[in-house]
Amino acid sequence: MENRSLVTIADHTREKILYLLAMAEQFELHPNRRILDGRVVATLFFEPSTRTRLSFETAANRLGARVIGFADPKVTSGTKGETLKDTIMMVSNYADVIVMRHYLEGAARYASEIAPVPVVNAGDGANQHPSQTMLDLYTIYQTQHRLDNLDIYLVGDLKYGRTVHSLLMAMRHFNPTFHFIAPDELSMPESYKLYCRKMGIQYVEHKDFDAEVIAGADILYMTRVQRERFTDLMEYERVKDRYLLKLDMLRKAKPNMRILHPLPRVNEIEYAIDDDTHAYYFQQARNGLFARQAILCDVLGITLDQVINDNTIIA
Ligand code: NCD
Repeated sequence: MENRSLVTIADHTREKILYLLAMAEQFELHPNRRILDGRVVATLFFEPSTRTRLSFETAANRLGARVIGFADPKVTSGTKGETLKDTIMMVSNYADVIVMRHYLEGAARYASEIAPVPVVNAGDGANQHPSQTMLDLYTIYQTQHRLDNLDIYLVGDLKYGRTVHSLLMAMRHFNPTFHFIAPDELSMPESYKLYCRKMGIQYVEHKDFDAEVIAGADILYMTRVQRERFTDLMEYERVKDRYLLKLDMLRKAKPNMRILHPLPRVNEIEYAIDDDTHAYYFQQARNGLFARQAILCDVLGITLDQVINDNTIIA
């Protein structure tokens, strides 16, 4: 059987991305349906999560599926020494799809290779976060009315931030110019810069983070410094407050520029910005529901046509 897992966004063509966005749009129109009636979705979260797990579970619930799983690996047989392989094989007996977040890079790939059911990567270490990217793309399209030829500024922890890694790979189809703003210790890894050069993605690195630098942004994508990935917490302390977005830094921003953040925010966006027209991170998080409804349907083999012609919609 074809493996329908979503492990990395790099596997998706431009057409496939646009197809999933069109499906997400259908779910924004009608999020409540029974199209997944009788299906069981397992959410296995080996790392903390609020939005990703709750939006996947809401996505499943609003489509009529049922959800099993855990939010805390401490309550599982992993603490008795069960391996990831055995956990995945067991859960595959119970569920039609596995949504998994794991602290090890490559864990989702591994799970997808052994599981007889599709696996959706809900974040693997500092590596990839493809479902976040689908909601980011949906949000970028919603606010800019296009995905092509945008200036996208990535700010903060570009080393450990898996959301920026996935976004960068997905945007290769849309001729972006990326602007990287990060402390030296957290700069975009060489492997991703190499990827940009190979794929013809333009990028500029900035040291300053001020009104002048961000004046050219269509999208300002802020990120949190990923404390849990540091081996040296002194280093975290040194870099954690380096790039903070303040309201007065927006005075030269394009009117249609939007600030995104995968959340959780720690302190990198001043609260006063929440009421500014450029702020869009809470609407972005809402889009997670629709993007994840599309992802769940797609990995379960439900097509866009079926979603469009679906007669299970609940008013
Ligand atoms: C992100 C993640 O888990 O990578 N959160 C999320 O899923 N929205 C970003 C983060 O934790 O900083």
